[in-house]
Formats: sequence, C-alpha cells, structure tokens
Amino acid sequence: MHLSMKLLKEYTALAPTYDQRWSAYLHASLRMTFEKITDQPTGRLLDVACGTGLILDMPSERSDCSELVGIDKVPAMLAVA
Ligand SMILES: C[S@@+](CC[C@H](N)C(=O)[O-])C[C@H]1O[C@@H](n2cnc3c(N)ncnc32)[C@H](O)[C@@H]1O
Repeated sequence: MHLSMKLLKEYTALAPTYDQRWSAYLHASLRMTFEKITDQPTGRLLDVACGTGLILDMPSERSDCSELVGIDKVPAMLAVA
C-alpha cells in the first residue's frame, strides 16, 4: 500500500494532536470495528496502520490478547503509540 508524501507529511503534523482532535469519532468507530471482529478471538492482535495505537490501547478489547503488534508508516504516529 502506497502512502503519498503529502499524506505522510499530514500525518506527521497531525500526530501530536491526533488522539485529542479525533477522540469521539475514533472511540466510536473503533468500538464498532471491535464488535465486528471479536467473535474470533485469537490471543494475538496485529494492527496494520495503527496510527497512534488507539486500538492496541483499548483495555477491554485486548483483554484476551497476549501479543499486541502495531505497524505504521509514519514515525511520528508511532512515537505517540
Ligand atoms: C486515519 S489514520 C488511522 C490510524 C488508526 N488505525 C486509528 O484508527 O486511529 C491512518 C494511518 O494509516 C497509516 N498508513 C497509511 N498508509 C500506510 C502504509 N502504506 N503503511 C503503513 N501505515 C500506513 C498512516 O500513517 C496513519 O497513521
């Protein structure tokens, strides 16, 4: 998957305030995502394009996960994660 230079710069600039800025939307959408995928618990969670790591940081959703891995193309997002 290609990430353009423009988007890379945008996410780099957004990273420090990303969670605060999008908090309500992010938590609502992430909870809906988990409702769809948690019927198949695996004990492991790989979040591709994890951004600031919000999915990996949702305690109730990760309780059955012994291994959490997040990858992202933007170092500034990973720095927050
Ligand atoms: C809208 S944010 C979503 C972040 C997170 N998944 C969330 O729900 O809060 C999109 C993320 O995808 C990452 N991304 C986009 N293209 C990517 C690629 N090719 N490889 C890895 N990460 C990528 C961006 O750096 C950015 O952090």
